[in-house]
Amino acid sequence: MATCSPGEILILPRNSHISVISAMVLSGALPRYLLPEYDPVWDLTYGIHAFQVKDALDEMRDEGKRAAAVLITSPTYFGVCSDLRGIADVCHNYGVPLIVDEAHGAHFKFHSDLPNTALEQGADIVVQSTHKVLCSLTQSAMIHIQGEMVNRERFCRCLQTLQSSSPSYLLLASLDAARAYICKCTGSPYSSNSHFSRAIDLANEARHAIQQIHGLSVLHSVNSSGTMVLDPLRITVSLWDIGLSGYEADDILRIEHGVIAELPSLHTLMFAFNLGTDSEHVHRLVGALQTLSIIPVRKNISEHTFLSKVHNDGPFATIKTKLSPREAFFARTERVEIDHALGQICGELICPYPPGIPILVPGEVISDKALMYLKEIIHAGAMVSGASDPSLSSIIVCKA
Ligand SMILES: Cc1ncc(COP(=O)(O)O)c(C=O)c1O
Repeated sequence: MATCSPGEILILPRNSHISVISAMVLSGALPRYLLPEYDPVWDLTYGIHAFQVKDALDEMRDEGKRAAAVLITSPTYFGVCSDLRGIADVCHNYGVPLIVDEAHGAHFKFHSDLPNTALEQGADIVVQSTHKVLCSLTQSAMIHIQGEMVNRERFCRCLQTLQSSSPSYLLLASLDAARAYICKCTGSPYSSNSHFSRAIDLANEARHAIQQIHGLSVLHSVNSSGTMVLDPLRITVSLWDIGLSGYEADDILRIEHGVIAELPSLHTLMFAFNLGTDSEHVHRLVGALQTLSIIPVRKNISEHTFLSKVHNDGPFATIKTKLSPREAFFARTERVEIDHALGQICGELICPYPPGIPILVPGEVISDKALMYLKEIIHAGAMVSGASDPSLSSIIVCKA
C-alpha cells in the first residue's frame, strides 16, 4: 500500500507468503510473478536472480508498463538468500523501490558468518518477523525503511490504517527487550563471541554428523554461481533415499523422540537452530535421525520417482491469472467438487501450512499441476490451512 496504488504492478516471486497476497487484496496491486527455480528432488524453491528482475522490468518497459515496486523474499523459510545487492541495483537503475520480506532473517546483522542483511544490500523497505528468529513475543515484528525512494508520509499513513489504534505495550516492550538482549550479548553486532557463535557451531556440528548418517543428505550450496547463499542456522535434510516423506519422518521424530522439526515437506525436514539451541538438542536430533535411517524402507522408490515427476517443474509452472487478487476476493463465488474445478477461476487461497506458500491464489485459473500437487501433498500428510474444505474434496471458484 505504501508503494502500489490500485491497478499498479508489483513484481514478486510466485512463492511469496500468504501475507503478500493479502497485501495485494488491500492495495489493489496487480501481480507480475517471477518463477523461482524449483528443485523436485528437494521439493523446494530457491531464490530469485537479478537477471529475472531485470528481464521482467525490460519486458514491462517494452509493453509500455512500469512496475510500482519489486518484492523479494530473502531468506526463504529454508534459509535461501537471493543476491539482493544485484537485485537492488537493477531496481534502482529503473527507479523502482525494492521491498524485502526478511521474515526469517532478523538475526543476520548479529554475526559475521551470517548472510548480509537486506538493508546492507540496498533494500528500501524491509519487514522482519523479530519474533521468529530473535526473542520477542509472537506477533511482534519490525519494519525498516531507508533512502529516499519511499514516501515516508504515505508509509506512515498506511501503518496507521492497518494497525490497531491501541498498540500493545507488551509487544513493543518485548521488541525493545529483544534488541537490548542481542546488543548486550554481542557487544558489537559483529563480535565473534556473540551468542550466535554457539548456535552456528552447533549447527555445523549437527550438519556434519547428519551427513554421516546412511541414506540422509543435507542441503549445502544452493547454486553453483554462488549468487544465492544459505543461512547456516537452517538445516534441511532429505529423506528421499530412505523412502520416507518429510511428514512421516516428522511424526516418528515427534512421537518417538520428542524432536520437533521446524518444517516438514514432501521430501525433507528442516531444522532451525537459534539462541536457545544447546548440545543436548544436537545429540537428540542426530540420535533420532540415526534411528530413521535403520527402519525398513516403507515405500518403494518407484512410487517416489512417480511423485517427483508429477511436479517436476513445480506447482507454479503453468500459472494463468484471470482476475486480480482483489477482484477475486470480492467476486461472487460458488463451491464445486474438486474434479470439476479444473480450468475454473480459483475463489479462495489454498495454502499448505507450513510453509504458508499458496499453491492457488484467488483469481488464478486452476491448473492440473496445482491440483495434482495438492492431492499429492495431502496424501503425504500435509495440512492445508485457509481452505474452506480442508480435505479439498471441494473448492470455491469465482462465478463467471
Ligand atoms: C516468508 C514469510 N513472510 C512473512 C511471514 C509472516 O510473518 P508473521 O507470521 O510474522 O506475520 C512468514 C511467516 O511464516 C513467512 O514465512
